[in-house]
Amino acid sequence: MTATLPTRTRRSGADKPPPDWDLVYKRNYIERLKRDRPPLNVRDELPELIARGYEDIPEEDIVRLYWWALAHDKPKIGTFMVRVKVAGGLVSAEQARALGRIAREYGRDEAELTTRQGIQLHWVELAKLPSVLADIEAAGLTTNGGEGDTVRNITGCPVTGLTHDEPFDVTPVIREVAEHFYGNLEFSNLPRKHKYTISACSAQCNAPEISDVALIAVEQGGRDGFALRVGGGMTNTPRISRDIGVFIPREDTVEVLAAVTNAWQRDLRYRISRAKARIKFMMDDYGPEGMRAKIEEALGRPLEDGTAPEPKLDADHLGVHAQRQDGLVYIGVPVPSGRITGSKLETLAALAESYGGDVRLTRQQNFILGNVPVERVDDVKATLREIGFDLDRGRAFGRSLACTSHTFCNYSVAETKGKLDEMLDELTEHFGSEQIGDLAIHMDGCPHACAQHWVGEIGLQGTTTRIDGSDERVEAYDLTVGGGLGTRTAIGRRLMRRVPTGEINAVIDRLVGAWLQERNSTGNPAFTIGDFCNAHTDEELVAIANDSEVAAAVPDTSVAVRLPGPLLPLVNGEDRLDVQAATVGEALAAVAARFPEFGATVLPGGKVAESFLIAIGDDDIRGLDGLQTPVQPGVDIIIVMAMSGG
Ligand code: HEM
Ligand code: SF4
Repeated sequence: MTATLPTRTRRSGADKPPPDWDLVYKRNYIERLKRDRPPLNVRDELPELIARGYEDIPEEDIVRLYWWALAHDKPKIGTFMVRVKVAGGLVSAEQARALGRIAREYGRDEAELTTRQGIQLHWVELAKLPSVLADIEAAGLTTNGGEGDTVRNITGCPVTGLTHDEPFDVTPVIREVAEHFYGNLEFSNLPRKHKYTISACSAQCNAPEISDVALIAVEQGGRDGFALRVGGGMTNTPRISRDIGVFIPREDTVEVLAAVTNAWQRDLRYRISRAKARIKFMMDDYGPEGMRAKIEEALGRPLEDGTAPEPKLDADHLGVHAQRQDGLVYIGVPVPSGRITGSKLETLAALAESYGGDVRLTRQQNFILGNVPVERVDDVKATLREIGFDLDRGRAFGRSLACTSHTFCNYSVAETKGKLDEMLDELTEHFGSEQIGDLAIHMDGCPHACAQHWVGEIGLQGTTTRIDGSDERVEAYDLTVGGGLGTRTAIGRRLMRRVPTGEINAVIDRLVGAWLQERNSTGNPAFTIGDFCNAHTDEELVAIANDSEVAAAVPDTSVAVRLPGPLLPLVNGEDRLDVQAATVGEALAAVAARFPEFGATVLPGGKVAESFLIAIGDDDIRGLDGLQTPVQPGVDIIIVMAMSGG
């Protein structure tokens, strides 16, 4: 794994004197909100909010509801998304049944498996939230900290305890860490969200590379413990986590994790702007050695030296695999785009119960049935097929990801789940499922990157465009290629911008066709589409994608102002406006001149409203020269809601 370093040289945050709380509160409206009205208390205020009715819930309380993993669905008509934390993705049959029933009774029988091994329900009415939260807790699960500035769902190797290939079973550690951090008030007012992951097997399939804090199981000197990587993340500024160079004995896990998180949450530099409030920026500032020193300072003692092992192979756990327990197997089942229903969860619960097994959720939005007796494999597969999960449908359906997007997400500017299914169906029909095999397309409806398009072999990020010569605005996708995790860890490179939705399937089809041709001619079945993209220049790939002799070079003379989904009604639905400008202020003024409502909302009186941040890359302009910050052609100016869900 190679670390991705910040692209621009700038003064390190570590060199600047730390701010005090007064400055934090002055600059950061969400920090003031958290101080004045602790978000977790909103649970007790639910009866009052219900009595008021959805329309009259103040925006501040909508923000506080995130801490209980409640976000309004799209359209905003009073129904909610409820994200359930499932530590390590490990669900007992009984819990699967309970979640299934809750989805069926309160959530119109819909559910989705998430990219961080959780389950999301939708359509839950405001008045039903207290019952739903209580039912989830009665099943031994929680939503506490599923969103908001908290320790989010702890992810982990979904086959830990079953596989031959791990130093030790990390299940008890995952449980202990969840027990300590979920709902713990000391870790519920962090600078921003914070994601832990715990790897066990040598494939490290749970994405330690893009987690804020990753523990990787190792054995050192005959003792079980963990190596530590810190600082991965997605969104507009993707980063690969870096090895801190320590060994943590297993029994010290909680204590050291607390020290890592405290080192970050107590450094007020990372509370001034939410655009810079992730631990990856602290890692940029201090580097692995400096970060280690900070962690040791928070811990009050030095840590032992150690090294994080690199992933040795890639695993998605799809299909039938022998367990380390004789006579048992686990079965990895592809779930296209992670869409499931409550009724199906109930069937899976009954199935797992019939042989004493369990259900494990994977970060690829799939599930694994664990502890299946070998002699039951055929009838388990038959039941799966009956409820629409066909193991033979094709691995690409299991390896590809799509974010929540249009159906429920207010930030979405382009469709993902339905579009991904359509694209994979067409590719399967054209090339056959065996041929496209391990293809992994990651599709996001906006730059937030919930489905991690940066690390897909093919990454698609939703945007909009105009069809040449017309005023018609259509959905479109920015295309990145060559991303990956595991043995192929890399942030993908941006190849094409704004490919209209009507053309994107053909573009992908041509790239896949050229990849397969090259793979077949080399005779190397391990040659992935990512390898293919990395073996060709951008110009060659764009020419293939466009089916043209040479890629047309389009000089960029403008700067782009990118807007989040909720602002689109103010700007005629365009998520990206290209303007001619020399400073951020001029660019925003140009947009405001075209769309006065935008000006009144984002720039009232010529100043940026408190509920928005303006960033260039990962830099909040308040840390640069504010609205006077100069911009070059080709730069993206990003408007961020000061507090957004997810
Ligand atoms: C209401 C709007 C949103 C919805 C419906 C949504 C949906 C999701 C879902 C389903 C996941 C997997 C979550 C899990 O199991 O923990 C996720 C993860 C994620 N979300 Fe969102 N999200 C929303 C807003 C946001 C926003 C505003 C951001 C960024 C500021 C964001 C960034 C991310 C990232 C980076 C991940 C994680 C990928 C990973 O670490 O594995 N999301 N989101
Ligand atoms: S990537 Fe954007 S559109 Fe997709 S779920 Fe996340 S916030 Fe919504």
